Amino acid sequence: MPPQMHLATIIAHAPAPHSIGVWRHPKSFNGFRYNKPQYWEHLARTLERGCFDMLFLADTFNLHDVYKGSPSMAIKYGLQFPRSDASLLIPIMSRVTTNLCFGLTANTSYMEPYYLARLFATLDDLTDGRIGWNVVAGFSRSEAANFGRDDVLDHKARYERAEEYMEVCNKLWNSWEPDAVVMDRETGVFADPDKVHRINHVGKYFRCAGPLSVPRTPQGRPTIIQAGASAEGTAFAARHTEIHFAVRASVDGMKSHRARLDAALAAAGRKPESVKVLWGLTAILGDDEASARAREQAMMARVAPEAGLSLMSGHLGYDLSSLPMDKPLENIAISGVRGILDSVISDFGPEVTLADAGRRYGCGLAGMRIFGNPRQIADQMEAAFAEAGDGFMMLTTDYLPGSVDEFVDLVVPELQKRGVFRTQYEPGVMREKLFGAGAQ
Ligand SMILES: Cc1cc2nc3c(=O)[nH]c(=O)nc-3n(C[C@H](O)[C@H](O)[C@H](O)COP(=O)(O)O)c2cc1C
Repeated sequence: MPPQMHLATIIAHAPAPHSIGVWRHPKSFNGFRYNKPQYWEHLARTLERGCFDMLFLADTFNLHDVYKGSPSMAIKYGLQFPRSDASLLIPIMSRVTTNLCFGLTANTSYMEPYYLARLFATLDDLTDGRIGWNVVAGFSRSEAANFGRDDVLDHKARYERAEEYMEVCNKLWNSWEPDAVVMDRETGVFADPDKVHRINHVGKYFRCAGPLSVPRTPQGRPTIIQAGASAEGTAFAARHTEIHFAVRASVDGMKSHRARLDAALAAAGRKPESVKVLWGLTAILGDDEASARAREQAMMARVAPEAGLSLMSGHLGYDLSSLPMDKPLENIAISGVRGILDSVISDFGPEVTLADAGRRYGCGLAGMRIFGNPRQIADQMEAAFAEAGDGFMMLTTDYLPGSVDEFVDLVVPELQKRGVFRTQYEPGVMREKLFGAGAQ
């Protein structure tokens, strides 16, 4: 059997998970509300029908307010805002599926480790071992302001804190030995106290007595997912992650990213095959390439440039509102953000204006973009997979939930016909589905 690709979909508990304009599409949310169980049940069932590995929930506590120093554009255009709690969706979706796994984003900067260790242990029980944790440390000042902080911790301190966070969580998840629960009706003994341990962690950032209030769960600990790309982020990933999520526009970019990760894994004493990399991918379907590209243009037309620029300003931490909208970026003389403008030009071409860049950015069109009919999409996915491995994190496109159904109904069978994608699930918990039976 040829190597099998992994597939996940990234989405959020929000009206516009990626493309800001998605809720405006006439076919979006027909019969569904993004914040009601029926929508999430439908998505989960669809992805399981398509044998997807994972539904991945991005999340932040952020409200973009860098553009014009105000949150008004984010509120006006629904810019990754509102966003409801994503963890509560997991039991809803796991009840209507048996194999689909779930990735949940949770931040190490604002909650004590005990809280998240308990949440993920509970979700591991409720899903029978189908939960992954996307470990993020937060990047936004507006997020910090919601938790009583003046600013985010600096980059190095954020990762240092996240490192200790993982240490505490791992101690808590191991605080119950696997056979600690006895439940002997005869003697009335529920658990063996000699097999449930205090952790008594005292560190730079945290103190925690333990044990966790949840006994050992099906996976023992959630499958760890991580997306950082800086030197610290890559080193963190190399120590902890099992799924790495990365955004690269070309196969060459993917290969050099993978090489950098593999070097970090070797330095951490881990093998390359201990981490699956999922590449961010936007696949736009049409009858042919031209109609798929027209579909992308229509997607961009539903994004107000200012909305995209608010998002971009938030991510860059730089207010782009002072720059002219309709002049090619190439001709804008400005220090400070020149490097950023150059990278936008290198992605979108020399004629790109700030307004164009805003529309594109607001569509969430980061990473690799491919266009065409189902056969052409499968060709391109197969080629990228053969060069860069391990699989793809599919960004949602223009309307929801229907564009996910479209991919599952039209592209998945093409991939399966070629033998590069499973037709049935592997047994076991999430870690075993990814790495094989018995994976610990
Ligand atoms: C593809 C991708 C998805 C991400 N999803 C989230 C998210 O849902 N929530 C969040 O707070 N940060 C998210 N991030 C931000 C990362 O967790 C991280 O903070 C960022 O990449 C900066 O890390 P670095 O400085 O190590 O590169 C994401 C990053 C990437 C590249």
